[in-house]
Parts: sequence; C-alpha cells; structure tokens
Amino acid sequence: MNISLKSESEIEKMRVAGRLAAEVLEMIAPHVQHGVTTLALDEMMQRYIEDEQHAISACLGYHGYPRCTCISVNEEICHGIPGARVLHRGDIVNIDVTVIKDGFHGDTSRMFIVGDHTAPVRLSLCRCTQTALYEAIKLVRPGADLTEVGDTIQRLADHQHFSVVREFCGHGIGISFHEDPQVLHFRNNSHLTLKEGMTFTIEPMINMGTHKCRVSAKNGWTATTADRQPSAQWEHTLLVTADGVEVLTLRSDERFPRIIRAGEPVDYQLTL
Ligand code: MF3
Ligand code: CO
Ligand code: CO
Repeated sequence: MNISLKSESEIEKMRVAGRLAAEVLEMIAPHVQHGVTTLALDEMMQRYIEDEQHAISACLGYHGYPRCTCISVNEEICHGIPGARVLHRGDIVNIDVTVIKDGFHGDTSRMFIVGDHTAPVRLSLCRCTQTALYEAIKLVRPGADLTEVGDTIQRLADHQHFSVVREFCGHGIGISFHEDPQVLHFRNNSHLTLKEGMTFTIEPMINMGTHKCRVSAKNGWTATTADRQPSAQWEHTLLVTADGVEVLTLRSDERFPRIIRAGEPVDYQLTL
C-alpha cells in the first residue's frame, strides 16, 4: 500500500477543494425539486464549478464517465448518470460531487428528499446512513484502526435491519481521485493504523433490502440494488489531524463539528 501523508501546504489545498465540493451541494439544494431532471441539476452544477469556482469536475471523463456529477435516485446505489430521469415527490436522491482545484480533489455527497416528505422507512434509511457516517468520522484519529469504521457502520445498519453495500468503498484522496487505502464500510479485517496527514473519504451506502448490487448493462456505470429497494449514501472527505479529525467537506447546513479532538464529546444533529 502506498498511502500519502499530506504536508501543511497540501492540506491547505485539500481544504480549498473540500470547501468547493461542499459549496456545490449547498448551491444545488434548493433546486432538488419535483419535476426537475437530473440532467438539469448536473448542468447547473457544471456551470457553477467551471464558471464560478474556476475548478473542474473530477468525474467528467474519469474512465470515460460522461457527466460532471453522479445523481442516484431511490434504487440506484451510486454512479447514477444525470439524464432525462425526472424527480418526483418522495424520491430519495444522492448527489455526489468531486471537484479538482489546484491539483487536489474534494469529494462529498448527501441525500435529498424531493418535496421534503417520503415514506418513514426511507427517511429512516437516510438518517441511519448519515448517522453511520458521523459515528465513523468520530472514530478517526491517529492510532485508530481503520477496521473500526466498518465495524461501526455495520453495527448501525444491522440494528435497523438494513444492509451495507460491499462492492464500493471509501478511498484515500489527494492529487489522485482514488488513492490507497480502501475504506471498507462493512465488518472486515483490513487493519491499518491511521496517521496524521492521511486524507480519505468515508462514504457508506446502506440498502433497505439486500446488500447485493447490479451494474447497468446499458451504461456500464450505474449500480442499483438487486431487489430494486432504496439505497442511501452520504460522503465526506476527511483529514487525520494531530489529535483527531477535520471534515474537509463540511457544509453550512450541517450541525456537526468541523474539527474533533479525540476524546472530547461530540454533539450533532442529522440533516434530514
Ligand atoms: N464520487 C465517487 C466517489 O465517491 C466516484 C464517482 S466516479 C464517476 O468515489 F466516474 F462515476 F464519477
Ligand atoms: Co469518494
Ligand atoms: Co463521491
């Protein structure tokens, strides 16, 4: 494994890229409405990233990926390709944004509920998945073992009789979009001691039914649940600090600390 430890000047660039990625999600939030197509949302985000942020999308052209963002609706787990799909009241939607600024990546995603109301079990799924992300972030500090992340996410999903996706994982991030290490969201034995200066994502995908996925034969990208039941995902890019963790992609709508010192109590509220 080849895990890069970021210098102070690289960390400053990661902070900028992370902030820009978060601001794309803040900008798009009021537009995630009944009747809009996922393509229209993608085009708004592309214009914002390119014309206002003077950044670029890491996704566009990545291994041939055709659009600027990923928008995954209901039974879509991840890598939903923006297109003619129209959003409807009650849909649960993940928007995943990765920007590159000054050579560094910021990667983040969140769930939206179209029209602000959905079936209670869909809301629980979204809340369970954000709780899983937040509880996993709280474990990040120098000396922690990366397997604690998967343990915690799996425990929270099991508790609600949901399932954790196994085919996709979090990842180191920096100059490259996907670096070592892989961050598994299920219980696992891939031990790794975290060190100051590591930057990686945690991005749990939790399904209402089976954990099994299918990747679209049509477009080669979009993963859906094998049973077509809903899936949720939230993602942040994180920095291991000297004494805890910094959330590089925190949004202004979140009630979660940007910086956590290990051992100090953490208070948070969920977004949805
Ligand atoms: N943003 C996704 C991640 O969290 C990756 C998307 S790759 C793409 O790792 F090509 F589908 F955009
Ligand atoms: Co990611
Ligand atoms: Co992402």
